Amino acid sequence: MSVRRLAEIQPESFEFTPENVDWANSQVAKYPEGRQASAVIPLLWQAQKQNDGWVSEPVIRHVAEFLDMAYIRVLEVATFYTMFNLQPVGKHLVQLCGTTPCWLRGADDLKDVCRKSIGPEKTVSDDGQLSWMEVECLGACVNAPMVQINDDFYEDLDAASFADILTKLRNGETVAPGSQTGRQTSAPEGGPQALTEAPPYHAMPFAPVVEEAPEAVATEPEPVATPAPVTVRDEAEKAPEAIVEEAASDDTAEAGSETDVAVGTTVEEDTSGTASSAQADLFADEASSDKADDDVPVADATESTEAGSGSVDGERPEGLPAARDGKADDLKQIKGIGPKLEGTLNGLGVFHFDQIAGWSRSNVGWVDEHLSFKGRIDREQWIPQAKGLAGISDGVQPPALDGPRGGTPDDLRKISGVGPKIEDILHSLGIYHFDQIAAWSPDHVEWVDEKLRFKGRIGREDWISQATALVEGVSKDGGGA
Ligand code: FES
Repeated sequence: MSVRRLAEIQPESFEFTPENVDWANSQVAKYPEGRQASAVIPLLWQAQKQNDGWVSEPVIRHVAEFLDMAYIRVLEVATFYTMFNLQPVGKHLVQLCGTTPCWLRGADDLKDVCRKSIGPEKTVSDDGQLSWMEVECLGACVNAPMVQINDDFYEDLDAASFADILTKLRNGETVAPGSQTGRQTSAPEGGPQALTEAPPYHAMPFAPVVEEAPEAVATEPEPVATPAPVTVRDEAEKAPEAIVEEAASDDTAEAGSETDVAVGTTVEEDTSGTASSAQADLFADEASSDKADDDVPVADATESTEAGSGSVDGERPEGLPAARDGKADDLKQIKGIGPKLEGTLNGLGVFHFDQIAGWSRSNVGWVDEHLSFKGRIDREQWIPQAKGLAGISDGVQPPALDGPRGGTPDDLRKISGVGPKIEDILHSLGIYHFDQIAAWSPDHVEWVDEKLRFKGRIGREDWISQATALVEGVSKDGGGA
C-alpha cells in the first residue's frame, strides 16, 4: 500500500452540522458506555461526506474531540482505511479498478480516458467536477472492466462508453449505473442461458433488473426479494392482498378460511407441495410487493371492486358473466396466481387464459391498480404466460422506421436496461425514438422481447413507462422525440 499522508493544504476548521451532530449522537448511543470510540469509522465517514468527500486534519480533530479519543488514534484510523480520502476530490470521484481481470479487459484504456478527461491521478479537474484514482478489485470482476463513481458501479465499460459517462456527469446529467452494455446483472452476454424455465411451484417472482440509480437507483432499484417469513397477527398486519381479496370475495366461508391461514401463522414457501396454495400465494405476494406494508391503499382497492368505479387508472378488461361452457381455465397455472387471486379474477369475469392474453396496457394498469400490486402483472409476465397457455404466440412487429427522424435518433440508452448493444439491435429493428417504444402494445413487446432474446425484460424494466416519461421530458424541453 502506498503511503497515505494528510493533504499539504488544510482548511482551518471543521464542525458537524446540527443534523450531523444528532446523527453522530445516535451512532454513539449504539455502543455501551465507555465504548464510544467504536463509532469512529461511521463518524469519519459522515464527516467525509459533509466535507466534500475528503477527510481533512480538522475533521480528524473534530471527530477525536467528539468521541473523546486521542487525536493520534483517529489519525491512525483515517490513514489506514483507503475508504477515507486524505486529499480533496472532485464532485464525482472515479475509483478505477486496475486489478488483473479488469486490466485484461481494458482497464488501461479507461486510465487513458481519465488522464485525458480529468488529468493526473489524484488531482481534481479544473472545473472541480472529477478526480480519479486506481484501486484494487472492487468485486465486480465478472463485468470487467469497471469503475466506481461515488456510490455507484459502472460496468462492462470501454473507452467510448466511459468517456461518455464522464462527459454526462460533468454536464450534470444522470447516468444509469450498472452494465453499460445492457447485460442483465452478471448474466452471460446475450441473456441468461440457464434456469430460464419458470419454477414448478409458486416461488417468488424474478425481481426486475435495475440499472438506474434507484429513485432509489432509481431505479432503485427494487430489492432482489429474499423475503423473511411473513407473520400476520391481526387485521392491521395482514398482507394487503389478503385484505383486498377478502373484501372482494363473494364467498364468505372461503374468505374466512383464508383469514385462518393468515392470522397468527408464519407463512413459509411451499416447496413440498403440501402447504396450502393460499400460503404460497401470500408468500409470493409479499415477495413481489414493493410495499407489503400497512400503507397500501387497501380501501381504494376494495372500493374499486365495485367494478368500473373510475377510481383507478386504465380500462377495466372486458369480463364474462361466467366461464365459457361452464368450464374455467385453471388460472393458477400462471405463475403468481394462487387460489385467492384466481377467485378475485373470476369475480372480475376473467376465467380464461385468452382473456388475460388479450389485455391491453390500459387493462393491465386497471387490474394492477385494482389489486394494489403495481407492476406485478408485468414482473410475473402474466400475459406471455397466458398466451403460452392459450396457444397464442409470437407477437407483432411494431411499426419501424427506415431511419431516425431528422437524421438524429433519441439516445435510447437513457432507458434503464438499454445499453449500446441493445440500442444497436433496436436500431436494426427500425426503432430510433422514445415515442416508438412508448406506443408498443403487449404484442409488440412480445415480438421485440423475442428479438432481444431477453424474455420478459422489457416488462420487468418497464421500458414503456420509461420511454413515455422521456417523451414527456423531451416535449417539456421543447425538443422532438
Ligand atoms: S478485478 Fe476489477 S472488479 Fe475485480
